Amino acid sequence: MAPMPRDYLRQFRDVYEGTLLLAGSLDQAEAEKLVNEGTIDLPVFGRPFTSNPDLVERMQNGWPLAEFDPDTFYGGDACGYIDFPIYPEEQARLEREKMIREKS
Ligand SMILES: Cc1cc2nc3c(=O)[nH]c(=O)nc-3n(C[C@H](O)[C@H](O)[C@H](O)COP(=O)(O)O)c2cc1C
Repeated sequence: MAPMPRDYLRQFRDVYEGTLLLAGSLDQAEAEKLVNEGTIDLPVFGRPFTSNPDLVERMQNGWPLAEFDPDTFYGGDACGYIDFPIYPEEQARLEREKMIREKS
């Protein structure tokens, strides 16, 4: 998905006085930059939320994000939407697997 050209977005900001949201391939760093410089009011995250149900907490804590799986989008069932773990669950699973490996 090609991002909206940022120069165009800034021109839009100059003439539009309402609340401006932007969606499309944003990451945290760019979202914060665009908000802090006043170019947008609210960043929108779509696909990253499918693989990070705790996206806000991950960003607040600087935890890494899980990659989303585009192959599951529009698949007709819940797979890929509700089966990604939150970060603490993921870490607990990795820790359990590590302990099992070390004992065997
Ligand atoms: C599987 C999927 C379903 C979506 N469903 C909707 C929807 O129902 N309504 C909507 O406004 N946008 C929908 N979107 C668009 C997202 O809200 C968002 O604008 C888009 O994914 C771009 O942001 P992103 O790069 O952070 O994913 C959907 C996107 C995906 C990938």
